[in-house]
Amino acid sequence: MTADPEPPGRVHVRRADAVDLDALLRLETRVFRSDLISRAQYRRHIDSDSALVLVATDNGNLLGAAVLFFRRGSASARLYSLASAPEARGRGVGAALLRAAEAAARRRRCQRMRLEVRVSNRAAQRLYETRGYRRHGLHAGYYEDGGDALRYAKDLG
Ligand SMILES: CC(C)(COP(=O)(O)OP(=O)(O)OC[C@H]1O[C@@H](n2cnc3c(N)ncnc32)[C@H](O)[C@@H]1OP(=O)(O)O)[C@@H](O)C(=O)NCCC(=O)NCCS
Repeated sequence: MTADPEPPGRVHVRRADAVDLDALLRLETRVFRSDLISRAQYRRHIDSDSALVLVATDNGNLLGAAVLFFRRGSASARLYSLASAPEARGRGVGAALLRAAEAAARRRRCQRMRLEVRVSNRAAQRLYETRGYRRHGLHAGYYEDGGDALRYAKDLG
């Protein structure tokens, strides 16, 4: 007899640690085609005071991840990466990670969140725009493959 698959549970967001590395790398290679974060970079970000890696899980499975950078003396935090697993999309994983990233930035006394989004990425643009992010510029050739990025920012005050 085979066990029924577990039903989707509540999405839980927490800080990543080294045990998440394999799952983070699997997610990264499934979701992104350019500008991938390597295992060594993930490991450094997990250990760094100037970075925060968040994971969204449900029943122990990794559903999504976010990477946030802080700079000493800067009032801005930077959301460098946000991804949800293809099979988990539309369940609020991206929004939960974004909320947790903003809460973490506020706890670090950051007044602003900055991020870049690929010009062609309408889903992510909609996520950010409906959560209060304002577009304020274009960075031509921002991505490793030459793609252009829109710059967004949100006042966290
Ligand atoms: C962008 C991404 C993180 C959204 O993750 P998700 O878990 O599906 O997002 P959620 O279910 O929390 O949806 C949040 C909002 O995103 C927007 N959104 C998500 N999928 C969308 C789609 N296919 N079309 C339009 N808007 C979409 C909606 O505004 C949605 O809000 P709503 O449910 O209140 O309408 C996910 O699609 C992803 O990982 N994409 C590939 C990687 C990527 O583009 N990362 C962002 C780089 S800046």
